Amino acid sequence: MMKRYLVTGGAGFIGSNFVKYMLKKYIDIEIIILDALTYAGNLGTIKEELKDKRVEFYKGDIRNKDLVENIFMKHDIDYVVNFAAESHVDRSIAEPQIFLETNILGTQNLLEIAKKFWSIGKNEKGYPIYKTGKKFHHVSTDEVYGSLSKNYSHAVELKLSKEVKKVVEGRENLKTYGTNMFTEKTPLDPRSPYSASKTSSDMIVVAYGETYHLPFNITRCSNNYGPYHFPEKLIPLIIKNILCGKKLPVYGKGDNVRDWLYVEDHCKGIDMVITFGMQNEIYNIGGFNEEENINIVKLTIDKILEIMKKESKYQEILKTDIKNINYDLISYVTDRLGHDERYAIDPTKITTELGWYPETSFEVGIEKTIRWYLDNQDWVEEVASGDYQKYYDEMYR
Ligand code: NAD
Ligand code: DAU
Repeated sequence: MMKRYLVTGGAGFIGSNFVKYMLKKYIDIEIIILDALTYAGNLGTIKEELKDKRVEFYKGDIRNKDLVENIFMKHDIDYVVNFAAESHVDRSIAEPQIFLETNILGTQNLLEIAKKFWSIGKNEKGYPIYKTGKKFHHVSTDEVYGSLSKNYSHAVELKLSKEVKKVVEGRENLKTYGTNMFTEKTPLDPRSPYSASKTSSDMIVVAYGETYHLPFNITRCSNNYGPYHFPEKLIPLIIKNILCGKKLPVYGKGDNVRDWLYVEDHCKGIDMVITFGMQNEIYNIGGFNEEENINIVKLTIDKILEIMKKESKYQEILKTDIKNINYDLISYVTDRLGHDERYAIDPTKITTELGWYPETSFEVGIEKTIRWYLDNQDWVEEVASGDYQKYYDEMYR
C-alpha cells in the first residue's frame, strides 16, 4: 500500500540520503520534504529528487504551526521522519539558543500537529485513538547518553555476543576502545547544548507517547559519514582541506573516540525501524567502528593519496602539489569545550529484533565517501560559497 512520508530536514546530510534511499527502494511512495534551508540545507543536494513526481518540497520551519498544519491538511501523512535539527556541536557552543528552539520546540510542534491530524476520537480512559498505520519517527543521537571513558589506548577487537554474531556476516575489523557501550537503557546524560537539546526532544517524544499514546519510534545513532556531508564536520572538512593543502585542525590531542556509521546503513536502519520496529520503542544504531579522531584524519590522508596515485586524473582536482599532502598538514588546535571523550553504541536490540547491522566497513565506506567528494567538487564549492541560495531563488521565484 502506498505510504506518504513527511521528511523534515530532507535537504540536509542524512535526510537527503534517506530520501534518495527510499525513492530507490520503493516505487509506491510519496515523500513530502519540509526544510528551512538553513546553512546546512541545500536544494542542490536533492535537485534530482525534486524532479521526481513522488516528491513535494516545502521550504519552511518545523516551528511554523500554520505551515505544518497546511501540509497535514493537504497530504494524508502516514509517517513523520524528523531529521530537522541544528546538528553541529561547535555551533551549539557558540550560539545555544537556536538549538533549543529548533530541536525542542520544533519537535513539539510536529508532535502536536501529528496528534491533532492523526487522532479520530478518545477511548474510555480519555486517551486519543489514532488512525491505523501512523507513526512519528524521531532521529536522535548517541550524544544523549553522555560520554564514556576509554579503557584501551589502542583499538581492540570488538567481541560480539553469539546472538549478534548470527546476524553480522562478513563484516570485518570490528573495533572498540572500551569495555562498555551505550545501550537503550543507559541513563541520559547530555553534556553540550546540542546534546541537551536533542535529549529534551527525545523526552518530549516519549512524553507524547506516554501521555497521548502517540505512536512513535526513536533511533539514536553514532557519527554518520558519507556523501553530501556538510564540510564543517570532521570528515568532509578534512577531505576539503587536504585537497587544498590546508591545515587539518585536530582538537586537543586527537584521542577522542567516535563510532563511525556509513550513512546508507543508517538510512536502511531507519527504514527498518519505521516498518518493523515495535511501537514506542527506542533503537540504537551504530557502526561497530570506534576510532580516535587522529587516526580518522591519518586514514583519510592515506586513502586520498592512494586514490590519487592509482588514478592520476584526480590530481587535476588538487589545489596544491601532491607532495604537500602528508601528515605535516595535521595541526593540533585548542580543544572543544566539554569535548566528550568517547561514544560507543551497542546495537544489539536492532540487530537481534530486526536483523539490521552496519554492513559497510570503514575501509569501504571512507573510500566511497572520498571518491564521492572527488567526483562532486561542484557540490562542495556550491555549498561552501552559498551559491545554492541563487539556485533556490531561480527555482522558486
Ligand atoms: P544537517 O545539519 O546536515 O541537516 C539538518 C537539516 O535540517 C538541514 O537541511 C536544515 O536546513 C534543516 N533544518 C534546520 N533547522 C530547521 C527548522 N527549524 N525547520 C526545518 N528544517 C530545519 O544534519 P544531519 O547531520 O543530516 O542530521 C540529521 C539529524 O540526525 C539531526 O536530527 C541530528 O541531530 C541527527 N544526528 C546526526 C548525526 C550525524 O553524524 N550527522 C548523528 C546522530 C544524529
Ligand atoms: O555522535 C553523533 C553526533 O555526531 C551527531 O549527533 C552530531 O549531529 C554530529 O555533528 C556529530 O557530532 P560530533 O561533534 O561528534 O561531529 P564532528 O564532525 O563535529 O566532530 C567529530 C570529532 O572530531 C569530535 O570529536 C570533534 C573532532 N573535530 C571536529 C572538527 C570539526 C576535530 O578534531 N576537528 C574539527 O575541525
